[in-house]
Amino acid sequence: MRLKNQVALITGAAFGFKKGGPSIGSAIALKFASEGAKVVVVDINEEMGQKVADTIKKKGRKSIFVKADVSNSDEVKNAVKAAKKEYGKLTCLVNCAASYEGNFFHTVVDTPEKDWQKIIDVNLNGYYRFAKYAIPLILKSGGGTIVNISSMAAFNVVPNFAAYPVTKAAINGLTRVLALDHSPKIRSNAICPGFVKIANSEGNRSPKELKKWCDNIAKDSPLKRVCTVEEIANIALFLASDDSSYVNGECIMADGGRFIADRFDF
Ligand SMILES: NC(=O)c1ccc[n+]([C@@H]2O[C@H](COP(=O)([O-])OP(=O)(O)OC[C@H]3O[C@@H](n4cnc5c(N)ncnc54)[C@H](O)[C@@H]3O)[C@@H](O)[C@H]2O)c1
Repeated sequence: MRLKNQVALITGAAFGFKKGGPSIGSAIALKFASEGAKVVVVDINEEMGQKVADTIKKKGRKSIFVKADVSNSDEVKNAVKAAKKEYGKLTCLVNCAASYEGNFFHTVVDTPEKDWQKIIDVNLNGYYRFAKYAIPLILKSGGGTIVNISSMAAFNVVPNFAAYPVTKAAINGLTRVLALDHSPKIRSNAICPGFVKIANSEGNRSPKELKKWCDNIAKDSPLKRVCTVEEIANIALFLASDDSSYVNGECIMADGGRFIADRFDF
């Protein structure tokens, strides 16, 4: 029960949108609940978000679902208010919501402005908005933790994929800023996953194509496999619990060593 007496708000915590399969946020929500936290599940996807809260309740733990679009400040404020109304406090914020929609497999020059703005507004400003409106409640609750889900893309860029890594690099900056602004009451850290198998990975792929995709990633990974959502949830648990009580402002790479392997492949 490493999160006993904690209340955690997790954005992007719905099950994967296609078939209700794994997502990083839902795995964190289930893990936190199993460790004693009361969990506020936040997502734009009402059906799959409610399903996560129901799954937690069926296991005898406490959870509510609040529908919120992270790009809408009123909905963000409403989600924080709902946490206070239901559980009286907030001790942990996990920013995880991100949109993969839009036309952003481009260079900077070729990325349409509206797609650039959308990804910045959801994937980066969504983290800023929740930090802005949740931190006052965390402070009133006696302090706590922020866990931002970033990406190895914050460090490791590829051509023709401009906007997403920019948001993730900025999230690492935001993580460090928050680590100083509210210390010692709030610790803020980020996780930078490599390739994680989620329901969305299956989105446009047949089972055969999915296997090929996973095999390709595994081939280039020192650990020879794709990461699971539970492995990211375990790091989030570490960062939200007292096990990491002297870790602050850290951006933890969880890519199985892919980044260092790519850099020193000569
Ligand atoms: N899957 C990977 O390989 C991988 C690797 C590195 C980092 N990440 C990061 O992990 C996080 C979780 O993504 P995932 O891989 O579980 O994908 P996912 O698509 O399953 O989860 C993203 C969730 O965010 C929600 N969402 C999207 N737009 C929203 C909005 N405007 N408001 C509220 N919710 C919104 C979606 O409905 C979805 O439930 C993201 O920040 C992503 O960038 C994922």
